[in-house]
Amino acid sequence: MNSCCTATGLHKMALPMAALLPLVATLLAASAAAAAVCPTNCGLTDFSYPFGIGPGCSLPGFNLTCDTKNHLLLGSPNVTVDYMISASDPVSVLAVYVVRSVHMGSGAGMFSTSWEGPGTPFAISSASNMSLFVLGCGVTATLLDRGGTGAVVGNCSVVCAGEEIMRRLPDGLCVGLGCCRIDLRAHLRAFTLNISRAGHGVSSDKLSFLVAGRDRYTFRPSDLEHGIDVDKVPPAMLDWAIPDQPDCRRAMDDKVTYACVSNQSECQDSPIGGYVCRCSRGFSGNPYVVDGCTPDLGK
Ligand SMILES: *[C@@H]1O[C@H](CO)[C@@H](O)[C@H](O)[C@H]1NC(C)=O
Ligand SMILES: *[C@@H]1O[C@H](CO)[C@@H](O)[C@H](O)[C@H]1NC(C)=O
Ligand SMILES: *[C@@H]1O[C@H](CO)[C@@H](O)[C@H](O)[C@H]1NC(C)=O
Ligand SMILES: *[C@@H]1O[C@H](CO)[C@@H](O)[C@H](O)[C@H]1NC(C)=O
Ligand SMILES: *[C@@H]1O[C@H](CO)[C@@H](O)[C@H](O)[C@H]1NC(C)=O
Ligand SMILES: *[C@@H]1O[C@H](CO)[C@@H](O)[C@H](O)[C@H]1NC(C)=O
Repeated sequence: MNSCCTATGLHKMALPMAALLPLVATLLAASAAAAAVCPTNCGLTDFSYPFGIGPGCSLPGFNLTCDTKNHLLLGSPNVTVDYMISASDPVSVLAVYVVRSVHMGSGAGMFSTSWEGPGTPFAISSASNMSLFVLGCGVTATLLDRGGTGAVVGNCSVVCAGEEIMRRLPDGLCVGLGCCRIDLRAHLRAFTLNISRAGHGVSSDKLSFLVAGRDRYTFRPSDLEHGIDVDKVPPAMLDWAIPDQPDCRRAMDDKVTYACVSNQSECQDSPIGGYVCRCSRGFSGNPYVVDGCTPDLGK
């Protein structure tokens, strides 16, 4: 009856149903007809293949979990996914919050802290105009690329004046008084931030850092005293790409793993390495799914 199984030498009746489930899941993923059985939302957040929840519903690295509070989590190190484009229009950007407050023991001259992205498909792209903002007093921050070479990406120093002056600073000025900024000009999958005391002037134990769009975060001197309001900071944007091949040319050579499976889909090399799929001009939808690209209506 089932020609697929006869052909591969499997006798349908000889296998308990449970043994067939992984096979079914794999076939579903392969055909990406998974929409019927794979969840496509978590609370109010929609997502689409290659992201997915459960076995066979995602490409490697794009495995999501939906927690009991309807927060969407991505991969291991549990990164909360705050924002994802819905099924009709997968865009290769993911918003995550990269914000942290740290206490530097008053005796410590040096402090090191780190961040790691949700996995190899994801990176803060150098093309996305993100900056790392450091809030504090009397320190120098050095940013190192921990994912790749360990190279120094940049540094910045921050000092504070007396309280009176700090209080009168206009909002949005991040130029080394209470706030300094390192522009991210390399792709980052993980970083280490080394902080050392500059050894002069006012020095604070409390330090915060965040990654956000260069023009999106507005430093307020009151953030120094009260700490950053985590609910009000803008998210960092992570680019994502299919990481198993370095570029489209090599991805197309392997028809089995090539992710741009829809007719009328095209491959684009990603700036962070790997590739992304797009629907061709005049079509829209999900290029990662068979028949996902459909003609634009109108015209
Ligand atoms: C997805 O991640 C969850 C939690 O990390 C794990 O339990 C599950 O096995 C993963 N599923 C797949 C298909 O990788
Ligand atoms: C992910 O979250 C689970 C449950 O909260 C925790 O046990 C686990 O250690 C976390 N993993 C990482 C890598 O943070
Ligand atoms: C980054 O900034 C450049 C120059 O201002 C601009 O051309 C480009 O569109 C920006 N990119 C993004 C992703 O915002
Ligand atoms: C910061 O970077 C600049 C330019 O790369 C370098 O000259 C300077 O020594 C660095 N400062 C610190 C404290 O590492
Ligand atoms: C950063 O800090 C680590 C740990 O303290 C140290 O091993 C490393 O040499 C530091 N790197 C730079 C460039 O300051
Ligand atoms: C996809 O395109 C090929 C070649 O243009 C065509 O033969 C095939 O029927 C198309 N498949 C679908 C499902 O439209």
